[in-house]
Amino acid sequence: MKKIVIAIDGFSSCGKSTMAKDLAKEIGYIYIDSGAMYRAVTLYCIEHDLFDPDGNIRTEALRQHMDEIHITFRIDTATQRLHTFLNGKDVEEQIRTLEVSSKVSPVSALDFVRHALVRQQQDMGKDKGIVMDGRDIGTAVFPDAELKIFVTASPQIRAKRRYDELCAKGQKASFEDILHNVEERDRIDQTRTVSPLRKAEDAILLDNSNLTLSEQKDWLLDQFKRVVYE
Ligand code: DC
Repeated sequence: MKKIVIAIDGFSSCGKSTMAKDLAKEIGYIYIDSGAMYRAVTLYCIEHDLFDPDGNIRTEALRQHMDEIHITFRIDTATQRLHTFLNGKDVEEQIRTLEVSSKVSPVSALDFVRHALVRQQQDMGKDKGIVMDGRDIGTAVFPDAELKIFVTASPQIRAKRRYDELCAKGQKASFEDILHNVEERDRIDQTRTVSPLRKAEDAILLDNSNLTLSEQKDWLLDQFKRVVYE
């Protein structure tokens, strides 16, 4: 069976990672969460005082630090979950907090951050057999991906999913704050100059507002089979 690259892009909190992870597991592909890489750079900025007191990024200082930021992924053997490592430290929990979520968009809008991460992502996919999710995977990282999906769902449904996720982890959260964060990230992701969030022309649109996880999984698997057996 031929090995392909699968690009899953779309709005924040629309369940892309769950879909991508499930599919990768089912078909024995590597899964890469590109958003986790932007989150890890944001955490690095927080930890190294690279935001000024007004919350703006110290851009030039970050540029100098880029070579010192190493992001890797490893499967936790106990849970079989993929964990993100920043300079050798497991930061999987830390990068999912609301603080990182609210600061990540401006970091991911910086061209030198994107160039560095896109290069690493392309390297991870050079042997194919990979499912990567993000915002620009089908447009900038792998424009030649054999299968491209663009996922969307209403902001309210996405905020509710993230709210439930944080509550399940025991983190305090306000639904209103999360909805605001989702809408604000949509706006920044779609309007930034470098690689704005948009559907690649050859991507298949999936609105999963009213789909169950198992319906999505079956749909995605059908798309995969269609491409590899065609
Ligand atoms: O998918 P996520 O919510 O974990 O992504 C975190 C942020 O990173 C989000 O605000 C958009 C940005 N991002 C990006 O610009 N490009 C990607 N390929 C993935 C994420």
